[in-house]
Amino acid sequence: MRLVLLGAPGAGKGTQAKKLIEKHGIPQISTGDILRKAVADGSPLGKEAKSYMDKGELVPDKVVIGLIEDRLKQPDCKKGFILDGFPRNTAQAETLDAMLKKLNMPLDSALSVDVPKDDLMKRLTGRRTCKGCQQMYNVYFSPPKKNGVCDKCGGELFHRDDDKEETIKRRLDVYDAQTAPLINYYKKSGILKSVIGVGGIDEIFKKVCIILEGK
Ligand code: AP5
Ligand code: MG
Repeated sequence: MRLVLLGAPGAGKGTQAKKLIEKHGIPQISTGDILRKAVADGSPLGKEAKSYMDKGELVPDKVVIGLIEDRLKQPDCKKGFILDGFPRNTAQAETLDAMLKKLNMPLDSALSVDVPKDDLMKRLTGRRTCKGCQQMYNVYFSPPKKNGVCDKCGGELFHRDDDKEETIKRRLDVYDAQTAPLINYYKKSGILKSVIGVGGIDEIFKKVCIILEGK
């Protein structure tokens, strides 16, 4: 499976990706996670990225394209991958297509996870993520058993810096202007699929499996 997950901030791309990696044993490549790790490590890349991320803007293409290029060449991508949060605009999508053509691993599908705007704000302000294993929770919809502690690994849960109301609004505008046009891009290339991302997480995952694999 070589998949791109599309969807607005909070649509559940990361949540569904985690379930797909458990089922298929292929890596989830999240540019957001890679950038947040660089920020936490205080690397030069992290310092550059942080100023964009805190404002809800996209990090420059040359930075994220370089990251993806390195990651896709790793041996674990040979059996497939799930791209979560990349590409984010047409220039990134075109570069990705060219890159994957050279590596002889074209995409099978681009899955758009569709969620109404009104649901996204509550999902994002309520999100908590594990510092250890990156598992996501939501204080409103899927809280951990013990407040602030990951059910899976016992790690500490944190609230993302960009999950503040003002920054969320900007991220949603950036999504509409720059990322939503990719739905048409992949429709034209014939690999677009879509799922309604409302309802229980497991119920959505069942639909995702049927849409992607017919079972
Ligand atoms: P990124 O980390 O990619 O964030 P995003 O696209 O804004 O998406 P999110 O991670 O917020 O949402 P998600 O769809 O993964 O939802 P989740 O599963 O967590 O990017 C962050 C920043 O990095 C960008 O703003 C940019 O600056 C930079 N960046 C990253 N990639 C880049 C690129 N390619 N180019 C340039 N810049 C880039 O779910 C959200 C919450 O909802 C969770 O709490 C979850 O538990 C809950 N939830 C999930 N499903 C359900 C459900 N069915 N019902 C109720 N709640 C649910
Ligand atoms: Mg995510």
